[in-house]
Amino acid sequence: MNLIKSFRMTCERIKAPFLRLTDGMTYREGGIFFSEGLAFCAMLEIFAVEMLIESGVAHGQSSEIWARWLHKPIIAIGNDGYGVLNETRMRLSDYKHLSIRVGDSRQLAPELLDAHRDKRIAVFIDGPKGRQALLLAKRCLGHPAVVFVGVHDTTRGHFMDGWGKTVFYTDERWFQRHYADLDRGVAEEERKSYPAGPGIGFAVSDPESMVPSWIRWSRRAKFLCRRTRTLLRQGKSLSVVKQRIKAHTVGIAESCAASKSILNLLRHLRSRSLTSLGIEYDTDKATKHGFTHIYERMFGVKRFEPVRLLEIGIKTGASLRMWEAYFPRGTVFGMDLNPKQEKDSDRIHTFVGNQEKRADLQACIEWIGEPLDIIIDDGGHTMLQQQVTLATLFPSLKPGGIYVVEDLHCAFNQPERFGVHPDNSNNTCSILEQFSQTGRLYSEYMTDSEILYIEKHVDRCKVWRIGDPKRPSITGVLHKK
Ligand SMILES: C[S@@+](CC[C@H](N)C(=O)[O-])C[C@H]1O[C@@H](n2cnc3c(N)ncnc32)[C@H](O)[C@@H]1O
Repeated sequence: MNLIKSFRMTCERIKAPFLRLTDGMTYREGGIFFSEGLAFCAMLEIFAVEMLIESGVAHGQSSEIWARWLHKPIIAIGNDGYGVLNETRMRLSDYKHLSIRVGDSRQLAPELLDAHRDKRIAVFIDGPKGRQALLLAKRCLGHPAVVFVGVHDTTRGHFMDGWGKTVFYTDERWFQRHYADLDRGVAEEERKSYPAGPGIGFAVSDPESMVPSWIRWSRRAKFLCRRTRTLLRQGKSLSVVKQRIKAHTVGIAESCAASKSILNLLRHLRSRSLTSLGIEYDTDKATKHGFTHIYERMFGVKRFEPVRLLEIGIKTGASLRMWEAYFPRGTVFGMDLNPKQEKDSDRIHTFVGNQEKRADLQACIEWIGEPLDIIIDDGGHTMLQQQVTLATLFPSLKPGGIYVVEDLHCAFNQPERFGVHPDNSNNTCSILEQFSQTGRLYSEYMTDSEILYIEKHVDRCKVWRIGDPKRPSITGVLHKK
């Protein structure tokens, strides 16, 4: 979806909650209009911003709107030209995630961006004004952590056109038509002097367009691309890759960021972690069990590949959406006992079937058509279901693929409900643990040939226990040769 369309939809979606949130707030002369506040909050939503830097705080009207909307760190910088910052700080002291700093944002903002370069940062500039605002905005836009910049008191044709990807000015007619009513009754005088703006100009980061092409294609950049790719392919952790590339790019880091692969790396480094996506979409893999930390380590190397993932068990669709967001080129398949087609999207496809039945599982595999990179069983969790599903689906994994059997702890917490025999002989967790130690698999639900196939094609198997040792969350992982 293009950004403007997404912007329009987001404004519409957040209008009601935004009005509730700003209810009771009053406009302060020289502050931002509520319609402008709505536009900025919509951009915060679209870009899933993890931190906001505001330049030019005085009475703190805009800072208060951001603090009510965004529950992430906000740093507001002001030079205290009006001598009101102490008062503003006191008034807004209840917003613990908002801190107000006195200083020159032309110095402070770049320092803060460097200190938080692992986050997705938005910048709002309401001071300095004019040319100084532009210089600051341009500098911020070139920083790899910045996802977009909003400059207040600017208008189309003013200055920002042609920078990065300038997307939007709040003085555009359609925006005024839809949202000018938010400002009705406030600042009538000011509104009269600016019938359509000035408003906020938004520029979205596109570092590639900010860097001269001779650097983009320099031999040094090519070398860095190769190095980055090799390190990622070797499965090095992100912090290691970052350190190594940094060591190669002393003095030229920002310029070389323009090379395509380095850009990808930067995107990778500043993209959301699986855990933060899991929390956002509210899957218990992240919020309760802590499995996403382990999965991130295993799946991180494949993140930017066209991964094909199947998950058994859809429920609300939270985890499917998490996978879709985590693998930007991935295709996500889900199978569930109940129809879930409302969860379908461009890259999410759902199938109805019972994981207890081999025929349903086979039909699902035929429907998918091609081998899979990752299979996750988060379905009904009975011993029969887990083992029949493993036996039937494991052959559909690509070489090097990963199979996960989730929530093995169910067998210990509620053995009867999940069909564990009193002698524990069919407990999937114990069976996998034994398999990982001996290389021999036992299952009363699998045929001999199914067992043989798994024994022959599993490279390694590990059972992960997470959290409270007395009542851990447990997930089992089998890596295919
Ligand atoms: C734990 S929830 C899945 C949660 C989801 N994976 C997430 O993390 O957001 C379990 C799902 O498995 C489905 N399920 C239960 N028994 C099943 C079966 N025999 N075959 C297929 N799906 C089943 C349920 O309908 C339910 O939607």
